[in-house]
Amino acid sequence: MLTDKHIEIIKSTIPLLENAGSALTAHFYQRLFSHNPELQDIFNMSNQQSGRQQVALFEAIAAYAKHIENLNALTSAVERIAQKHTSFNIQAEHYAIVGHHLIETLRELASEAFTAEVEEAWSNAYQFLAGIFINREAQLYQERAAKEGGWQGARAFTVIDKVTESALVKSFIFAPVDQQAVIGFTPGQYIGLEVHPTGNDYKEIRQYSLSDKPNGKSYRISVKREQQGVPGKVSNYLHDSVNIGDEVKLYAPAGDFFFVDRQSPTVLISAGVGITPMQGMLETLAANKHPQPVHFLHACEDNSQHSFAQRTAELVKNNNWQQNIWYRNEKPQQSHIKQGMMDLSSTDLPTQTGNFYLCGPIAFMKFAKQQLLSLGVGEGNIHYEVFGPHASL
Ligand code: HEM
Repeated sequence: MLTDKHIEIIKSTIPLLENAGSALTAHFYQRLFSHNPELQDIFNMSNQQSGRQQVALFEAIAAYAKHIENLNALTSAVERIAQKHTSFNIQAEHYAIVGHHLIETLRELASEAFTAEVEEAWSNAYQFLAGIFINREAQLYQERAAKEGGWQGARAFTVIDKVTESALVKSFIFAPVDQQAVIGFTPGQYIGLEVHPTGNDYKEIRQYSLSDKPNGKSYRISVKREQQGVPGKVSNYLHDSVNIGDEVKLYAPAGDFFFVDRQSPTVLISAGVGITPMQGMLETLAANKHPQPVHFLHACEDNSQHSFAQRTAELVKNNNWQQNIWYRNEKPQQSHIKQGMMDLSSTDLPTQTGNFYLCGPIAFMKFAKQQLLSLGVGEGNIHYEVFGPHASL
């Protein structure tokens, strides 16, 4: 139970968290992985090296401390994090481990300021926050396990097809080894994929957007090969070493970025491999004979990197939708494709009535969002998905 006194202490120690900055996060994760090395099977160790995920956990805890008297402000962040956690099958006992290392980190780094009173307040506050996540995650696990084709934890799947979509993107289609049904999903959501690359000390779990409509039998993801020096260990492993007939483990579909039928025009805006959730949405909208206007806008380097080009053109034509494409580095041959950066002011978009879905590199989404705002689109009508650790636009 959080008392007024606890709340007062939590608020007064926010600077402790903020000032400690990267020293605190680095110490915490070093502690976590040296005492509980098995957690390296869960965390993305490439994100650990880049520091992006390390910051995410502490930013969330600092945000919690700031909003401790009005937790409603955190509802959408809690939902996003809980959805992500379920795609790793995170359990209540993991929260106890993280909580323990968090308190011990504060004790070790802020020894004088970390009085018995501060410890009690933070232990209670952490347990309260952990309780919110544990409850929501338990609810999600139960809901998914109860649906037809649903499951909890890792389930074995076989690669039944591997298809080249463009110079850097390959699709993988997975069917369950048990040959039973698979649960549906809302287009825009991702699955958790677990592999154990040869020579790797730990298993790797990553999230990939589902790139086709639900069919009850299999899932499709579409994966970009990354260049050297960019995190992409699992994506490149899938490209190089995972073939038809191989097995992977999947965690049930999750994620809070998905198409919601708001009975309004839909505008899908993507760049590069950010097209993958959009492709799932387009396939679903077409299958449902969606009655509202649909606009598809996409930017990529050139024709060789234009994934699903033929299929989206077909969907757009058959359903009387609009599409605009930009190639950054090539003079295109077709009239609906322009050369250069995406320029939304040159298109006829339903800025007042539409709902806008963005996916692509963070810099691209910021660029597109700014354009939408200056065209008069309301912030609440812009929805977006970040691949990798979350960032605000
Ligand atoms: C991701 C917060 C507990 C494992 C995240 C993210 C946040 C977060 C903000 C990033 C979400 C995003 O990118 O959209 C928290 C908070 C916790 C907590 C506030 C406690 C109250 C845990 C626990 C575990 C865990 C107990 C498991 C031991 C992960 C993993 C990711 C993640 C594996 C994905 C990051 C990666 O790719 O490595 N969490 N988390 N978290 N969390 Fe938590």
